[in-house]
Amino acid sequence: MKRDLLTIRDLTKDEILALIDRALEIKKAGRNAKRPFAGYALGLMFDKASTRTRISFETAMFRLGGQTLFLSRGDTQLSRNEPIRDTARVLARYLDAIAIRTFSQDFVEKMAQWAEIPVINALTDQYHPCQILSDIVTVKEKRGSLNNMKVAWIGDGNNVAHSWINAAGILGFELALACPPDYHPSPDVLKGSGKNIELVEDPADAARGADVINTDVWTSMGQDAERDKRLRDFKGFQLNRSLLELCKPDVLVMHCLPAHRGEEISDDVLEGSNSVVFDQAENKMHLHQALLEKLLSER
Ligand code: CP
Ligand code: NVA
Repeated sequence: MKRDLLTIRDLTKDEILALIDRALEIKKAGRNAKRPFAGYALGLMFDKASTRTRISFETAMFRLGGQTLFLSRGDTQLSRNEPIRDTARVLARYLDAIAIRTFSQDFVEKMAQWAEIPVINALTDQYHPCQILSDIVTVKEKRGSLNNMKVAWIGDGNNVAHSWINAAGILGFELALACPPDYHPSPDVLKGSGKNIELVEDPADAARGADVINTDVWTSMGQDAERDKRLRDFKGFQLNRSLLELCKPDVLVMHCLPAHRGEEISDDVLEGSNSVVFDQAENKMHLHQALLEKLLSER
């Protein structure tokens, strides 16, 4: 049966842990890994910009022996109101999986409902599951374990924060989020979360004793009209040297990128010795390879 990855909640704890270990094995094997998916095709439908996610999915699929097709929605009949249910059923006749980056979570859900192939959420306004799975690969790689870990989130309660909340809910690590009052994570995403997930007002409280500290842009794709207001509202929520000093000395500084130096993160922290942002970017490729291997072979 086909499996989708629309949110991290589509995976069990054991599946997440296995994917992480597999991504690290794939990383070690490098170009020597087997290429079992010759003749397979991954569609990439991206309605928003991407450097890392798109290219790392493309490279991961090449490394598995398959190919990718980039689908620009404006060039498909979706742009002329062909129903999602028809588009999804047609695409499933040509492709073996599809990764979608778009605005509404509803779109990826409908595609998954109608397409008999795995549908992967490559970022929506609501979630960015692949990002957090690969970030956890980086944490495991650097720390050797995910046990006894406090993760801090500083800034917007956005799509990336939502996927961290999902991951903490399943894996059980401590997650402290400091977000300005009007930018808290969605109550729907927080619903039912345990004591290991905490919202705090002061970024210092989130950072204190953290093993991992994470931030993301204050203005996500699709929110550009709000940029000036957001710059004002997020004052005091920058990940900078004074917050870093409250964390454990070997804290991992994470940012999914692209970063805006001088806004959500200071240049010295982004470029400093605790920063693992380029390892995060690389590990997206290894995680995507592990994920495609799983979804294509389970189908
Ligand atoms: N982190 C991330 O998803 O980057 P891109 O927007 O470049 O894909
Ligand atoms: N929150 C950001 C993540 C970019 C990878 C956005 O949605 O634009």
